[in-house]
Amino acid sequence: MRIPMSSPDLTAAEIEAVNQVLQTPYLSIGPRIAEFEARFAEYVGVRRAVGVSSGTAGLHLGVIAGGVGEGDLVISTPFSFVASANVILYERAIPIFVDVEERTGNIDPLLVADAARDLSRGGERARRWMPPAVRSSQADGCRLKAVLPVHAFGQPADMDAIWGIARQYDLAVIEDACEALGAEYKGRRVGAGSEFVAVFAFYPNKQMTTGEGGMMVTDRDDWDALFRSLRNQGRDVFDAWLNHSRLGYNYRLAEMSAALGLVQLGRIEELLSRRERVARWYNAHLEGVEGVRIPYLATTTTRMSWFVYVVRLAPQIDRRAVMAALEEQGIPSRPYFTPIHLQPFYAQRFGYRRGDFPVTEALGDTCLALPFSSVMTEDQVEYVCRALISVVGDRRSTA
Ligand SMILES: Cc1ncc(COP(=O)(O)O)c(C=O)c1O
Repeated sequence: MRIPMSSPDLTAAEIEAVNQVLQTPYLSIGPRIAEFEARFAEYVGVRRAVGVSSGTAGLHLGVIAGGVGEGDLVISTPFSFVASANVILYERAIPIFVDVEERTGNIDPLLVADAARDLSRGGERARRWMPPAVRSSQADGCRLKAVLPVHAFGQPADMDAIWGIARQYDLAVIEDACEALGAEYKGRRVGAGSEFVAVFAFYPNKQMTTGEGGMMVTDRDDWDALFRSLRNQGRDVFDAWLNHSRLGYNYRLAEMSAALGLVQLGRIEELLSRRERVARWYNAHLEGVEGVRIPYLATTTTRMSWFVYVVRLAPQIDRRAVMAALEEQGIPSRPYFTPIHLQPFYAQRFGYRRGDFPVTEALGDTCLALPFSSVMTEDQVEYVCRALISVVGDRRSTA
């Protein structure tokens, strides 16, 4: 048996919807994207949604809207996919990483509060939060502008705390909700309730897909207009096609993708509940297994949106050996996430070292994502779990 790491969940309806677009002249900026945006806003419970070419593109535009520019500071998490920090660098700003909560892997709001307090005061205490390589050269005169939390693995970060800090220090909040479509925080869908922006992503391993694509959601009309302009080469709605009011990008979402997204969004409850069922099968097989910790859900998570299924291996278990043994049985697995500050480019540019963010590093060393998708069968889950239990058992006895 060979089990895929992830799989999109597509039916004849998605194929038909894309085919229909291909029979029209409107392959971009047509009726499908407008409809997709309207339905998406309604689903999340926000006033506006703007489709973009990827989650990364959406996060980049969120950073721009947040007024983040050269030398500005943005508080974020090192326990994430690299794109959430890269978008800060795109604007020549400086990511200020703070460590995460051990149980959820989400940014620790107590550390966000400490960092915001010190960074807004400046001086020696502020310097301590800066990346080592810029501590002396660039530290003075930097302004804290925004916070960029990530809802890791589909579990909401503690947004009430983060919004409170943002209000106190006048910060923009750019929520990376790329992994969390449909998740609920204290009874409300992720993406709703913000005064700023949240960004979702539709890569094929996500809860729903458009091939490539993303969606920005906001309650602010001014940001809605700004995002529409920025994604479309800086044109304003009143601009002629070759007039450009500001520096913009081509971050548009194609009509074929929007058509695919519309069908997937129509199936979202089915897709999410299938994923949840797969996660429950995993939990049932792995709960109580020595050396393997199943995912933890915070009390504020009133609905988990299962993006990946990530277990923690006991620190003494050799994860690389476990992965190799699983691979031999046709089971792929991934060390998810690899901490951003230890990615070669970040370590080199910012002078980070092992030990800088110990909780993130401990998670990075022990987390293992198992194959996961809505189309996985119970037999496949059982096969993966049996293999994992046996491999971990062997590793424990040889450790
Ligand atoms: C946490 C996080 N942020 C950002 C992204 C970027 O999304 P995309 O691949 O659509 O650019 C992803 C998706 O891979 C993600 O998991």
